[in-house]
Amino acid sequence: MANKKFTVSSFLKAKEKGEKISMLTAYDYSTAKLLDEAEIDSLLVGDSLGMVMLGYENTLKVTVDDMIHHCKAVSRGAKRAMVIGDMPFLSYHVSVEDTIRNAGRIIQEGGVHAVKLEGGREVIDKIRAIVKAQIPVIGHLGLTPQSINIFGGFKVQGKSEEQARKIIEDALLLQEAGVFAIVLECVPEGLAKIISKRLDIPTIGIGAGKYCDGQVLVAQDMLGMYTDFVPKFVKQYSNLCDAIKESTRSYIEEMRRGVFPAKEHTFSIDEEVLEKLY
Ligand code: KIV
Repeated sequence: MANKKFTVSSFLKAKEKGEKISMLTAYDYSTAKLLDEAEIDSLLVGDSLGMVMLGYENTLKVTVDDMIHHCKAVSRGAKRAMVIGDMPFLSYHVSVEDTIRNAGRIIQEGGVHAVKLEGGREVIDKIRAIVKAQIPVIGHLGLTPQSINIFGGFKVQGKSEEQARKIIEDALLLQEAGVFAIVLECVPEGLAKIISKRLDIPTIGIGAGKYCDGQVLVAQDMLGMYTDFVPKFVKQYSNLCDAIKESTRSYIEEMRRGVFPAKEHTFSIDEEVLEKLY
């Protein structure tokens, strides 16, 4: 499937065939292009950009306009990957009309292929409306960061029988409402396994263990370039923090010693012209 565009039906086919779906976040053109060239299946323009790109302490301040700005950049960089844009806090909570308008703007102006939004039964009417407007939707259950003030912090969800049953029921409700995949964040592996078995649509896990139908990570976490907060479920495949700091120190040092810029980085002018300028 290397060069074939990844679509909603690729998500569903992958589930049928038992093939794992890869997803990473991306917030800008050049990173999206690199991840796409590495053949990632899907790129999520997550509202985590509020923390990773904008330096907020959580995702609550991110606006629809912020999302559109970053979605535009990522969709310009992605040729093969399916691009999904997050619906930020309060963009799907006020009314159904407002929700469709916001989802539509993220698709139409942001150029992404689908939207993702957090929550279960409490947003089911909004999900149905977006699906009815022909916009593909991904659900998000478990630790839903926009509800951080209700959860009282970034905590694993679904550990008690009551919580776990609620998440299973919500997953079934979301499937019935027409979402084509569900992100399961920070839930116990055993619970994610049950949900993944019960659903016909794929689950994409983050901190939800290996039985999900795919995995997503924040690219900056996986690449080791965002260290304000590194959750237990992150595996760092590179240490770009050190690489970036090392390169920056070399640049400063070479520039101060006069080693950079060298001849090959410099433009010349005819001596005759130059003399006239003195
Ligand atoms: O905003 C985000 O990046 C997300 C993923 C972590 C799933 O929702």
